[in-house]
Amino acid sequence: MDRIHITGGAPLNGVIPISGAKNAALPLMIASLMTGETLELINVPRLADITALLRILGNHGVDQMVVGKRPGQTSETGQTIRLTASNIIDTTAPYDLVSTMRASFWVIAPLLARFGEAKVSLPGGCAIGTRPVDLLIMALQQLGAETEIDGGYVIAKTKKGLRGGQVSFPKVTVGGTHVALMAAALAYGTSVIENAAREPEVVDLADCLNKMGARIKGAGTPRIEIEGVARLNGARHEVLPDRIETGTYAMAVAMTGGDVVLKDTRADLLHSALDVLATTGTEITQVDGGIRVRRNGGGIAAVDVTTDPFPGFPTDLQAQFMALMTLAKGQSHIRETIFENRFMHVQELARLGAKIRLDGDMAIVEGVERLRGAPVMATDLRASVSLVIAGLAAEGETQINRVYHLDRGFEGLEAKLGRCGAQIERVRA
Ligand code: UD1
Repeated sequence: MDRIHITGGAPLNGVIPISGAKNAALPLMIASLMTGETLELINVPRLADITALLRILGNHGVDQMVVGKRPGQTSETGQTIRLTASNIIDTTAPYDLVSTMRASFWVIAPLLARFGEAKVSLPGGCAIGTRPVDLLIMALQQLGAETEIDGGYVIAKTKKGLRGGQVSFPKVTVGGTHVALMAAALAYGTSVIENAAREPEVVDLADCLNKMGARIKGAGTPRIEIEGVARLNGARHEVLPDRIETGTYAMAVAMTGGDVVLKDTRADLLHSALDVLATTGTEITQVDGGIRVRRNGGGIAAVDVTTDPFPGFPTDLQAQFMALMTLAKGQSHIRETIFENRFMHVQELARLGAKIRLDGDMAIVEGVERLRGAPVMATDLRASVSLVIAGLAAEGETQINRVYHLDRGFEGLEAKLGRCGAQIERVRA
């Protein structure tokens, strides 16, 4: 298995291009199942999760074309993918494909809405809690689906098509909102989603669906109204920038010191995280087409953080922020409210010399003078990158094992950091 070797201590200086958002690209690709016409997606990141989803869509019969390089583009320009679901041959998403990635479960919504039936394996994905799909199934039921669970599969059916309804989520769920949006867009009549997720990726999906002919109002607010249509058409849509990648590199600079421009991204996608970073003593400025992050000298101030659905501090940046706080002056409290088992990075950060105590959903981080490199193990996607950040700031060598988690979510990580002065390399197994 591949490993990443980091020799820590160098500040980061330069420019890091930000890729298209994985968490937006996945539901957008799934939306291609909603029409027989071609959906062209621009700025799709090159990631293992994207490849895995292409395999799943291919299994349903979706034709796929990855557009080649055009003049002026580099290997880092996001890819353009054309997906055409005109010949769906199979409405079953099997275990061996779905088990590698949780988001693939969402294919249930377009398959059911367009073909009246879907059989989708219960999902896998990052081991960060139980992560059930009860609310996704509830949403489909409220739009008229009949569902049963049999042999590890969710089987959903509708006799006369889905019909508009009221979907009230007792808890904010991104996946639940995506599923409800896709199902309601092709349902007969009007639907309302209450307590909808407000994440930018939900807005991106709604924007794309509207380009395809859907009638969705209110995405980005807790109440989304959808007037169902009988069919959707093809469209061309650019995936929004990855706010988690943006925040991750911003935290890396905050931790190592230096001066980096994160380009092709937007500050409004992660206000709360940037506000928190500014409070730690990092200078954040908006520049043309991106964000400049600087910390030259000066210590890192300890700040308390609680994860929350958007626009709150994202759970997907919790591990990275904890890495930063391990070198802060004083004590910080980090509360995780979204996932119950998302502290697996704590024991790995401890191997680098971090002082962290867990108390229920709270991590109490006691800042130390310095971290020292050590062999560590990547456990899930975001936890892995927190170890990279910590390794960049630690003295000596850090070796990160099981890096396939990183490849699921961070495009060109070593190249992007290496060009900014980090000593980081991948050792192929
Ligand atoms: C998405 C993101 C993930 C992010 C998470 C929260 C993608 C591909 N993944 O995951 O990176 O960390 O949002 O911002 O976009 N829940 C239930 N029942 C359900 C569904 C969810 O109890 O049926 C719970 C979950 O266990 C969790 C909370 O609701 O505690 C939020 O989960 P959700 O927003 O659905 O996360 P995902 O969409 O899976």
